[in-house]
Amino acid sequence: MRFKDFDTISMKDFSRDMIDHILDTADKLEPIAKNEEKSDILNGKILAVLFFEPSTRTRMSFETAIKRLNGDVLSLGAVDASSITKGENLADTIRVIEGYADGIILRHPKEGSAKMAAEMTSTPVINAGDGAGHHPTQTFLDLYTMRRESRLEGVKIAIAGDLKYGRTVHSLCYALSHYNADITLVSPKELRMPREIIRDLKNRGIEVKQTDSMEDAIQDVDVLYVTRIQKERFPDPAEYQRVSTSLQITTELLKNANPDLKIMHPLPRVNEIDSGVDFTSHACYFKQSFYGVPVRMALLSLIMGCIE
Ligand code: CP
Repeated sequence: MRFKDFDTISMKDFSRDMIDHILDTADKLEPIAKNEEKSDILNGKILAVLFFEPSTRTRMSFETAIKRLNGDVLSLGAVDASSITKGENLADTIRVIEGYADGIILRHPKEGSAKMAAEMTSTPVINAGDGAGHHPTQTFLDLYTMRRESRLEGVKIAIAGDLKYGRTVHSLCYALSHYNADITLVSPKELRMPREIIRDLKNRGIEVKQTDSMEDAIQDVDVLYVTRIQKERFPDPAEYQRVSTSLQITTELLKNANPDLKIMHPLPRVNEIDSGVDFTSHACYFKQSFYGVPVRMALLSLIMGCIE
């Protein structure tokens, strides 16, 4: 299996063997993520971090992963303070940064931007979210969370919320097709999963169920994966208002849930999970955000060719 210099653009590029290897490597690196052990696996490597959209978890967990492995972070910083404000385009920015860094971590509002960036440079590019497109590193940590906290092979999962614009669930569905998952999609009809993704899943042998009833969907699942309604991606603010409170997880709703049910969320949440749920055994989302560190450590170490 060859990871060195691999571009991480979409989950569609990753085989099950590759995903399993990343998750196995993350298992081994977790003590370093927790600062229980020290490492210099990324010593001498510089990773450029370019975020053209807001982020807390993805940016900070990448930076934590790099620092825990003794690599160096080269941050573009605020877009407003860079030469982008002078009109420099993304392609030129990438061509310049390849001269400074050994890898490029990119978040950008435009779908397809990470693929375009990867075509501009031989330096490996990691897609940290491209508009409503893909967010593959979130998916690695989601799969890792399921493996650690519930089950991954044959997982029964309800995926709820903004399935139209939510890039994390697009990447997740492709990945789950490798693990014989039983997938139920829960959303108002305005926010359903794009048809081409449903078709791709069918071609991979996964028939998803679709419903707008949360009560029905959570009866018998191992994992409930909730997503935020992506306000920033709605062309029509009135449409956002119509659907903004369409799905809400409360302790009341969970009264009859499977006691082992784990609730995941890529975060940030707005109002889709009531804060009372945080204190139940179902809440798994803060642990999930921590798992971004060992998983991103694993991916970076493999892509930089520092481990195999
Ligand atoms: N889950 C996620 O991508 O969070 P951020 O937008 O804070 O990075």
